[in-house]
Amino acid sequence: MTLKRLGAAAVGLTLAVGFLTIVFTATHYATDWFFTALGITPQPIVQQLAASILGLIVIVLMAGAMMLVNRGRLETMQLRLLGPIVEALGKIAQGDYTVRLNHPELRGRGVEPVGILVNSVNTLAQELDQMEAMRQEFISNVSHEIQSPLTSIRGFARALHAENLTATERAHYLNIIETESVRLSKLTENLLALASLDSESYTPDPKPYRLDLQVRDVVLACEPQWQEKQIEMDVATEPTTLTADKDLLNQVWINLVHNAIKFTPPQGKIQIELHHVASDVEFCITDNGIGISEADQTRIFERFYKADPSRERARGGSGLGLAICKKIVDLHHGTIQVTSKVGHGSTFAVRLPVETK
Ligand SMILES: Nc1ncnc2c1ncn2[C@@H]1O[C@H](COP(=O)(O)OP(=O)(O)OP(=O)(O)O)[C@@H](O)[C@H]1O
Ligand SMILES: [Mg+2]
Repeated sequence: MTLKRLGAAAVGLTLAVGFLTIVFTATHYATDWFFTALGITPQPIVQQLAASILGLIVIVLMAGAMMLVNRGRLETMQLRLLGPIVEALGKIAQGDYTVRLNHPELRGRGVEPVGILVNSVNTLAQELDQMEAMRQEFISNVSHEIQSPLTSIRGFARALHAENLTATERAHYLNIIETESVRLSKLTENLLALASLDSESYTPDPKPYRLDLQVRDVVLACEPQWQEKQIEMDVATEPTTLTADKDLLNQVWINLVHNAIKFTPPQGKIQIELHHVASDVEFCITDNGIGISEADQTRIFERFYKADPSRERARGGSGLGLAICKKIVDLHHGTIQVTSKVGHGSTFAVRLPVETK
């Protein structure tokens, strides 16, 4: 590469020297002819000066002419190259993210400025396209999650108008309306939590606290639910001080414990362990519930993903709990993983650095 550049410089220098020699030789003969034609024999120094001045004038005029020609060519080239780029940016600004720059002039341009610009415009359009698809999917998920409880509420509210209902039927319909309303408010609560966690300005507020006591409090708070299903709850925690956002992590343990209870049949078993692993702390929750297939294990942390939507509907989930857990754990630079076997149970392991920056 350097050798190539050196070669180009040598050729350029030779051409420049050759050009100057030709110009000054020509002006020397021209002034000589001029003075002879006038019948004047000037001092050699005067003739030399006249030849040099004439040479400089010729060089300046030629440079000017070349600049003019080049400017015209440059403007035409810029218009040809930049036109499609400006047009594409205009379309992107109007919301058309399907545009891609594939103009014959622009094709194959990779490293030079125009090529970099072309690649950037294509990447921008592609990323906006993906974001738009995600936005549409999000809206359709939210609408779906809102629509189903609303349909139930409307249906059972209408059914309540019937006069020949028994007291039991009436109580049952009212129960469903209440459950579906709770589901709606839980959904908005989760959506608001995610929106707040997603916002750029959100930063966790880490403070040192006793994690083992927090985990025990969550298990106690959920006692009515696991007692109702006669689930055996086994908790083994090491005394652990963690520097993290206490309120946020509380949500993680609540979501995981709720899932374990929800997806474990009556008389099942849930084990919770908390221990140190090197400079991290690990929280493990194992249930002997329905388990999760390998394909679903890769997707359950996605927003609105439910392993079996029709079954989960009966359980009242919206598929946001684990997405919230993942977001909070990520904010703490930790990891959350699942191991599971269908029909045997699942283990969720959360690992967090003891000191969060
Ligand atoms: N312990 C578990 N055992 C079996 N399946 C589970 C377990 N935890 C989660 N899942 C599966 O992962 C899916 C996503 O869980 P997630 O907590 O995000 O949503 P959800 O519990 O359905 O609804 P939400 O938490 O929003 O009320 C669940 O629908 C379920 O299919
Ligand atoms: Mg859940």
